[in-house]
Amino acid sequence: MNENKATLNLGGTAHEFPVNKGSIGPDVVDISALYAKTGAFTYDPGFTSTASCESQITYIDGDEGVLLYRGYPIEQVAEQGDFLETCYLLLYGELPTDQQKRDFVGRVTNHTMVHEQMTRFFTGFRRDAHPMAVLTGSVGAMSAFYHDSTDISDPYQRLVASIRMIAKMPTLAAMAYKYSVGQPFIYPRNALDYSSNFLHMCFAVPCEEYEVNPVLSRAMDRIFILHADHEQNASTSTVRLAGSSGANPFACIAAGIACLWGPAHGGANEAALKMLEEIGSVDRIPEFIARAKDKDDPFRLMGFGHRVYKNYDPRARVMQKTCHEVLQEVGIKDDPLLDVAMELERIALRDEYFVEKKLYPNIDFYSGITLKAMGFPTSMFTVLFAVARTVGWIAQWKEMIEDPRQKIGRPRQLYTGAPRRDYISVGKRK
Ligand code: SDX
Repeated sequence: MNENKATLNLGGTAHEFPVNKGSIGPDVVDISALYAKTGAFTYDPGFTSTASCESQITYIDGDEGVLLYRGYPIEQVAEQGDFLETCYLLLYGELPTDQQKRDFVGRVTNHTMVHEQMTRFFTGFRRDAHPMAVLTGSVGAMSAFYHDSTDISDPYQRLVASIRMIAKMPTLAAMAYKYSVGQPFIYPRNALDYSSNFLHMCFAVPCEEYEVNPVLSRAMDRIFILHADHEQNASTSTVRLAGSSGANPFACIAAGIACLWGPAHGGANEAALKMLEEIGSVDRIPEFIARAKDKDDPFRLMGFGHRVYKNYDPRARVMQKTCHEVLQEVGIKDDPLLDVAMELERIALRDEYFVEKKLYPNIDFYSGITLKAMGFPTSMFTVLFAVARTVGWIAQWKEMIEDPRQKIGRPRQLYTGAPRRDYISVGKRK
């Protein structure tokens, strides 16, 4: 491949394709003319070698374990910034000035309430429904309430829809939790910051004042930052594909929530905690490591491995640190689950199976222990992931909609089904 061209020999003919360079990271071979030139498609199920778009939002170097939000390392953003500042950065590309941040926080704060009729919408669900089912349904239903921000061709309506999603997702998530425990919904409090307001809506009750613990609120805010965006992961790709048809943003985000729910993706934090509880004690770890390595056993170490990271997930390091802070703050001296998690990590990182396949802890490995210590039930873990990832979905959706080259996503296939054949009447079928 010469510097700017790649040559493909197909059927004895050489075809040239442009090679495009990014600011950092792998080059791409632009094969958009491949079918027109050769009559052949590329084939890449799971998109392991496919760039679906050009983006300037997030960059991952999987081999080095690097994650950048608009160029800023995740460790610095998580330690020095806050979640709403991160939302501004992901949406608009730069860290906000003091005035820009105040304006943005003010806009979000003034959109945190949901339409009062949505409370009646919730009562249609069973009390024991999984909160992710409730969130998928209620976010999709937002298109039935906010008609004045569904015209995606209007930049102002796109802005309002973006702010509404970021502002209302914590409120809907807290309502899903309250509904599942049979407690009354708690309204947002504009005097509280984003993460304190979320914890207040989840854990306050009308009968008494609820003081948000500042250490837990800071931890919540940092957890939101860590989960905010992550290139073209499965749920973000779902939002982009749904948005490419012109569907309204609320419907696109609902599709992203549905995809995130899967245990191979955002559902892994819930699955990882259940796995740690199933292991139960350090002496049972070898049994589960053996199962994870057994090709005939579908068991996987949940919270381990990643499509892109072939090194330690940088978010997992910050998550582990936050986990220790939260356990100390809530007075959990030695959590058996944390003991199991740390010993499991220690053993796995030395085992040649995991070393050879470059399987490291990912963000979901420590998040479950942390969220459980903060008082959330396991069923709420992926809901919290969705609250954080909403800004990433919205930022990626905005970038796609504002791209003048944007067109509907429509992949092709390798067909291996029956060739053309004539219909057989029922009396002649064998
Ligand atoms: C998230 O994409 C993102 O960016 C996602 C995310 C985000 O922020 O949006 O980072 C969030 O989803 C994190 C990942 C959470 N999922 C889990 O923790 C579930 C457990 N992990 C695996 O299911 C798996 O590692 C994936 C799904 C995360 C990645 O799978 P890939 O890239 O398709 O890799 P693979 O399944 O082909 O695995 C490669 C090899 C296989 O062995 P071989 O067939 O080559 O012999 O590694 C093995 C796998 O069997 N393997 C594991 C393993 N993960 C992969 N073996 C045991 N335990 C594991 N966890």
